Amino acid sequence: MIASAPNPQKAHPDAIEKAAHILKQGRLVVMPTETVYGLAADAGNAQAVARIFKVKGRPSFNPLICHVASPKDAEALVNVTPLAQKLMAAFWPGPLTLVLEKRPDAPVCDLVSAGLPSLAIRMPSHDVARALLKAVGCPLAAPSANRSGRISPTEASHVTQDLADDLGKDVGLILDGGPCIVGLESTIVAVKGEALVLLRPGAITADQIANACGVRPVGDQSGTITAPGQMLSHYAPDAAVRLEAKTAKHDEVLIGFGPIKGDLSLSEGGDLIEAAARLFSCLRSADAMGKKKIAVAPVPRHGLGLAINDRLRRAAAPKNNMEAST
Ligand code: TXA
Ligand code: MG
Repeated sequence: MIASAPNPQKAHPDAIEKAAHILKQGRLVVMPTETVYGLAADAGNAQAVARIFKVKGRPSFNPLICHVASPKDAEALVNVTPLAQKLMAAFWPGPLTLVLEKRPDAPVCDLVSAGLPSLAIRMPSHDVARALLKAVGCPLAAPSANRSGRISPTEASHVTQDLADDLGKDVGLILDGGPCIVGLESTIVAVKGEALVLLRPGAITADQIANACGVRPVGDQSGTITAPGQMLSHYAPDAAVRLEAKTAKHDEVLIGFGPIKGDLSLSEGGDLIEAAARLFSCLRSADAMGKKKIAVAPVPRHGLGLAINDRLRRAAAPKNNMEAST
């Protein structure tokens, strides 16, 4: 279903209310932003966030950007340093994403940051996105609303073409906000103490950033994303991980799936959405049980199972292997 208004750049209260309701139910809404259209979920609802990966058909759990309604709301999610504060004051609302240290009590599920200790946050400037964030009252995790490997959508009609199979199912509503003014994904900058690292170039340039805060972002200018989530061993728990396990050995905690019962289970019913939503917390809980090894039952290698297996492979990789695996 598409909700359009006579002037799509302006928020229509009925459509916003409906979208907020759908998000609260744990389903997805396509939200226009000034950069590209985003596929949004309640960032605190792990099942809803897992749906994003299912619909996108992403073969891996890249960390997602959390969209907030105000700089004040960002303070509940991340440790906002004075340098970050300057950048927010200069560029928010707008197409600048900041990667900051995630607060331990942030009301965001582990799947959003893909288990990383950092979190990417941004306050969009599109009137419809801002109205939706205000109405829903929680941060929204949202990658670009295209299927994996396709071009980011900058008009509602691009989304309808790309996500046709999921409309009305996982995706409850597309909010039509007209053509995106920026049309290119946000600039991503990691704030590391007094230094800035450019992770993705975008509409806000390094020069603009340097002028606004006196610090020039360093790093890869080539356009390749160097998210720490792409490092092979980044997600490794303390215990060694053995994959494709049918039973546990005496020194192992078994994480089951479907018919393979374990000490914990990703999903007793063999549901991939549930498994994706529980993956990082299961690995954490298994680690906390203090055994030497974690054995994990096989998870089917199709649909969302591809992303689950990608993360499991990283969890099982030798710890000194920091090779990029894109
Ligand atoms: O303009 C945009 O940023 C759009 C709109 C919808 O807001 N969103 C977007 O999301 O482009 P996505 O998922 O397509 O790209 C976000 C990228 C990820 O691929 C990842 O590399 C990076 O942001 N990222 C997210 N969290 C990160 C983190 N904690 N550390 C480093 N990079 C991170
Ligand atoms: Mg994208």
